[in-house]
Amino acid sequence: MRLLRTLLYVPGNRPNMLAKAPTLGADALILDLEDSVPVPEKETARALVAEMLPQIVGEGRTVFVRVNPPSSPFCPEDIAAVVQPGLAGLCLPKVQDVDSLRAVIAWLAEAERAQGLLPLSILATVETALGILNAYAIAAADPRVVGLIFGGEDLALDAQLVRTEEATELLVARQMVALAARAAGIQPVDMVYPRLDDEAGLVKNTLAGRQMGYRAKQVIHPRQVPVVNRLLSPSDEEVAEARRILAAFAEAEREGRGAIALDGKMVDRPIVERARRLLELLEQGGGSWAQSAE
Ligand code: COA
Ligand code: MG
Repeated sequence: MRLLRTLLYVPGNRPNMLAKAPTLGADALILDLEDSVPVPEKETARALVAEMLPQIVGEGRTVFVRVNPPSSPFCPEDIAAVVQPGLAGLCLPKVQDVDSLRAVIAWLAEAERAQGLLPLSILATVETALGILNAYAIAAADPRVVGLIFGGEDLALDAQLVRTEEATELLVARQMVALAARAAGIQPVDMVYPRLDDEAGLVKNTLAGRQMGYRAKQVIHPRQVPVVNRLLSPSDEEVAEARRILAAFAEAEREGRGAIALDGKMVDRPIVERARRLLELLEQGGGSWAQSAE
C-alpha cells in the first residue's frame, strides 16, 4: 500500500513514455487510450498498451488504463484488450449517468471472467454538465468505483464555460465532485493543471484543490509529479499539530471535557477526528482508497 497523491497520464501511443512512466515517481499511472490518442491510432495504441502492460505493472506501480468513453464504439474492445493480471482498474472518461456505468461494468465483468480475475476498480471521470449533476449517484453506484475524477477542461467545453487561470468558473463543479466523492466514501481526484512550465500556477491550483478536500490530483508531465506529491503529503507541521491535538484531547477526555482550547483555538470532535485520520493516513500509507484500489 502506498500514498496515492499523483495520477500521471501517459499517452497510450507513445512507447518511450510508457516505458519511462514507472520511473517518474507518480503514485499511480493512467495509461491513456482516450483523448491523448488520435482516432486513427486508437487500435495501435490499444495493442501497444496491452502488450506493454505486463512490463509496466511488473515494476510495482498502481496502473489504471483510461479506456474510451462508454458511449464510444472503442470502449468494449479497449476493455477486452487491457484487462490483465496486475491491472488495478479502469479509468472511465465522460461518465454521464449510472446506466452507462453499469454497461461498462458488465463488459468489465466479462473480461475478468475470461481471465479468471477478481473485480477490478473503477475511477469514474465526471466532466460534463450532466455528469457533474449525477456525481453522487455515479460515486455511490457500485463498490468498484473507488475514485471520482473531476475533469475541468472537458466540462468547460460541455458547459460553455470561459476558462481562466483562477478557475473560478469551475469552482462550484469542482467542489461538488469533491463532496460527492466524500459523501460516497471514495476518493476525489482533482483537475489537471494544463500549463507545463508554470510551477507557481501549479502550486496555487493544487493548494486550492486541497482546500476543497482533494488529496489526489491528475498530472500530465513528469515535472508536475514531485511538486504535487509534496503539496498533497501531510506536512511536518500538520503531523506535529495532529499529535498535539490528540494528546491534549485524550487528557481533556480523562477529565470529562469534550471541547478544549489549544493555542487559542477551539478543539472539539471534528477537529480531533481530522487529526486522527491524518495520522492514520500516514501510518497506513494511503488510507482506505489505496486498500481498495490495489
Ligand atoms: N508520461 C511519461 N513520460 C512523459 C510524459 C508523460 N505524461 N510527459 C513527458 N514525458 C517525458 C518525455 O517523453 C520526455 O522524455 P525524454 O527526455 O526521454 O525524451 C521527458 O518526459 C520530457 O518531456 P518534454 O519534452 O518536456 O515534454 P513533451 O513535449 O515530450 O510532452 C506533452 C509534452 C504534454 C505532450 C506530454 O507531457 C504528454 O503527453 N502528457 C500527457 C498528456 C495526456 O495524456 N493527456 C490526457 C489526459 S489530460
Ligand atoms: Mg477529459
